[in-house]
Amino acid sequence: MPYAPDPYRYDGRMPYRNCGHSGLKLPAISLGFWHNFGDVDDLNESRRIMHRAFDLGITHFDFANNYGPPPGSAERNCGRIIREDFLIHRDELIIATKAGYLMWDGPYGEWGSRKSVLSSLDQSLSRLQLDYVDIFYSHRPDPETPLEETMGALATAVQQGKALYVGISNYPPSMAADAIDILQDIGVRCIIHQPCYNMFDRWIENGLTDVLLEKGVGCIPFSPLAQGLLTERYLKGIPDGSRAIKEHGFLQESTVSDKISQIRKLSTLASKRGQTLANMALAWVLHHPSVTSALIGVSSVAQLEENVRCLEQLDFPSDVLADIDSILG
Ligand SMILES: NC(=O)c1ccc[n+]([C@@H]2O[C@H](COP(=O)([O-])OP(=O)(O)OC[C@H]3O[C@@H](n4cnc5c(N)ncnc54)[C@H](OP(=O)(O)O)[C@@H]3O)[C@@H](O)[C@H]2O)c1
Repeated sequence: MPYAPDPYRYDGRMPYRNCGHSGLKLPAISLGFWHNFGDVDDLNESRRIMHRAFDLGITHFDFANNYGPPPGSAERNCGRIIREDFLIHRDELIIATKAGYLMWDGPYGEWGSRKSVLSSLDQSLSRLQLDYVDIFYSHRPDPETPLEETMGALATAVQQGKALYVGISNYPPSMAADAIDILQDIGVRCIIHQPCYNMFDRWIENGLTDVLLEKGVGCIPFSPLAQGLLTERYLKGIPDGSRAIKEHGFLQESTVSDKISQIRKLSTLASKRGQTLANMALAWVLHHPSVTSALIGVSSVAQLEENVRCLEQLDFPSDVLADIDSILG
């Protein structure tokens, strides 16, 4: 049976928020393809996740050149699914990709030179089977390339019609401010920054969110669930199939044991609010005034459906925020 999306997907359950001062609206929850869509994964479940996400109003899919494993396979696998199942909905989708981390051998296979960034975008478009992406990011700052060169390459992608918007990821506050200004001078707006942000990693509160709010740039935090730590996944040990146990997973088992006592306390607090821990953690990220959308990962449709339920309770009385701060120390 060909995929037929839910006709009620835009009935108001999923809020769409303007990305900074740009006109682009993103869903409050966006879906990332870092894990769970590579050649090592169950692609039937990957396809089901993409269908269910779209049915739930999630119009934003986030890729990078190197997502897999192996690198490139998430774009290749999902490019095929997009072509087979979503082609007539292309104009309803915001598809992002990035260049910056290691992708191919030699001096041009990573970082931020014009050569690397623009070649990587061409490769991504070919794997995704698309003519353009909606957002193209510099995935990380390059200490050995002038910022003007990397930002100039992003601007060229827009001028060539290969990207509609551009963004930066993992840039610290002062470099982010410079990058945004350089793009502005070239006449291309940086609409979005993609940093790590969750209850366990609050680095963006030290200057970055001020820069983004001041310059009208949106913020899409990645790993809002700290790769699954801020869910019920590890409350009873480390389950088979979880990211912490997978050979290619980026979550260390030692991180689970370091954090488990805080996770338990946060989970109890979430239950008192009538939420799961995952829901409270996502609501907490979305509560920050700079945040446009929370960029989640999921390994199943059930996780996706649970996570979207965070939208049912987004408010945070100050005493609950204080309790969270006290648990986090
Ligand atoms: N720009 C960057 O440098 C960068 C870096 C990292 C990520 N990202 C982007 O951000 C996206 C999200 O990152 P992330 O995958 O680390 O996000 P995350 O949402 O913090 O973690 C996702 C993982 O948490 C677990 N999980 C999610 N919902 C759950 C639930 N309801 N119950 C139990 N476990 C649950 C799953 O782990 P299991 O696999 O164990 O089920 C899932 O794979 C990526 O896909 C990518 O697009 C960008």
